[in-house]
Amino acid sequence: MPKRAEPKTAASRNRSLRILMVASEAHPFSKTGGLADVVAALPKALGRLGHDVTVITPRYRGAPDGRVEATVALEMAGHRFHARLLEHAIGVNARVLLLDCPKLYDRAGIYYEAGGDYPDNPIRYAFLSAAAVDYAAQQAQPFDILHAHDWQAGLTPIYARLAEAASGRAGGHPGTVLTIHNLAYQGIFDKSWVPRLGLGWSDFTVSGFEFFDCLSFLKAGITAAEALTTVSPTYADEIQRPEYGHRLDGVIRARHDRLTGILNGIDADEWNPATDPFLPQPFDVDRLGAKAASKRALLERFGLAVTDETLARPIVGMVSRMVDQKGLDLIAAVASQLASLDATFTIVGTGEPHHQEMWRRLSQWRPDRISAFIGFDEQRAHLVEAGADMFLMPSRFEPCGLNQMYSLRYGTVPIVRAVGGLVDTVRPYNPKNGQGNGFLFSEYDPGVMLQTLEAALATFADKKIWSRLQKNGMRADYSWDRSAAEYVKIYRRLRPARTTRRVPASKG
Ligand code: ADP
Ligand code: GLC
Repeated sequence: MPKRAEPKTAASRNRSLRILMVASEAHPFSKTGGLADVVAALPKALGRLGHDVTVITPRYRGAPDGRVEATVALEMAGHRFHARLLEHAIGVNARVLLLDCPKLYDRAGIYYEAGGDYPDNPIRYAFLSAAAVDYAAQQAQPFDILHAHDWQAGLTPIYARLAEAASGRAGGHPGTVLTIHNLAYQGIFDKSWVPRLGLGWSDFTVSGFEFFDCLSFLKAGITAAEALTTVSPTYADEIQRPEYGHRLDGVIRARHDRLTGILNGIDADEWNPATDPFLPQPFDVDRLGAKAASKRALLERFGLAVTDETLARPIVGMVSRMVDQKGLDLIAAVASQLASLDATFTIVGTGEPHHQEMWRRLSQWRPDRISAFIGFDEQRAHLVEAGADMFLMPSRFEPCGLNQMYSLRYGTVPIVRAVGGLVDTVRPYNPKNGQGNGFLFSEYDPGVMLQTLEAALATFADKKIWSRLQKNGMRADYSWDRSAAEYVKIYRRLRPARTTRRVPASKG
């Protein structure tokens, strides 16, 4: 069992909460993007505040075995699935339970393989939610909160409600929260799955999980959870508009009183240039000169020449899922101009074949200036954050974005599109008062992106201004502590309501 911490803060002086999170990824057990980072770091931060957090997530291929905390056996789509829940402590008061069901999760990929998405994804992720609800029901000391993340856990609030109805104890299930990390991924499947996943046709309505005559896992969560959050305040506003609503803006608007945008934090231990084991030499705001060792290592790792010239030339880094969301078509549109800028580009990413192909072609065309690593590589990702001078994120939309915050911490100045969480974390540099930490552009236009990049490169030439910019970013606090306390406020809003429902109404 994880160690218990003494309550430290005002929040934890109240009774501590028991929270069960459900998510399809959790670092370091699995990861395709920022969800995994959040699902590891938020529980740790809540644990530090004195709450007790358990995360249920699949045990994919390669994840370790562990002590068996519980077992579940559930009927789904005509099969009976058995699983073990394997315990791993991840921090004080925080643990992960890996849902071990090899038939569903022991595969080469997480969501898909070369041939496409796994056809039984509806079962794989319905089972995740159902197993979490079943585990919650096994507890002598009930959970206060069931907190689901993204579409893969979207059925959790529905299954919780069904379990409550089956138990006959109104108000007996924990308070339910859904966090939307990315509205673009919705888990939409043929409606024939409704009965096969143990769901009722009575919820197959416009105000339930029906979405254009299909079953939507995300809409199920949005309409059934008692509280909704998303990962930045700006994104919380954006998703209520058609432009960013992915056809769910109306559904979100209808529940806007339940929605809160809470900015993600970063795991300040994992992403710390002073202790990062992937770097050749530690650095921080008072030892910024030592960042040069990472720049050298970055050039070497990416097969680029290490000379006085390449060391002096600014490096623009990117670490990104290679999907449309990340604004890669802007880069494709001005690729030849990019290569003629006085800059070197180092990229790590994996994703859709046509985006990968674009980066491959660019690296072959200008191997002296552009080096792209296609694949998922933790070490290279850290090295880019540390060794690059600038970090480019021209996202079409960005619910929060973690990489710009990692960049700020590593003195790597972000150049971002002013959208979603990027607006909430990157402030434009103002030469008049020396405030700001990066460069932003608004219009989704390749020419505007290029101009912004050029402006950043021109600023880089002034070492005094540049180091001011770097330090502004490095001195800010992006840790989880503040945001975790925001989640606690939401949990507590649900708890009193639930407690009163359980207590018989008083007379008078
Ligand atoms: P998103 O979740 O949309 O992908 P974020 O910026 O929130 O965007 O988080 C991305 C996370 O995934 C970061 O931790 C980033 O370092 C990591 N990441 C993305 N692609 C790769 C890759 N190819 N190799 C290693 N890490 C990656
Ligand atoms: C999603 C979003 C990203 C966010 C991450 C973690 O994958 O695309 O912007 O930072 O989730 O919340």
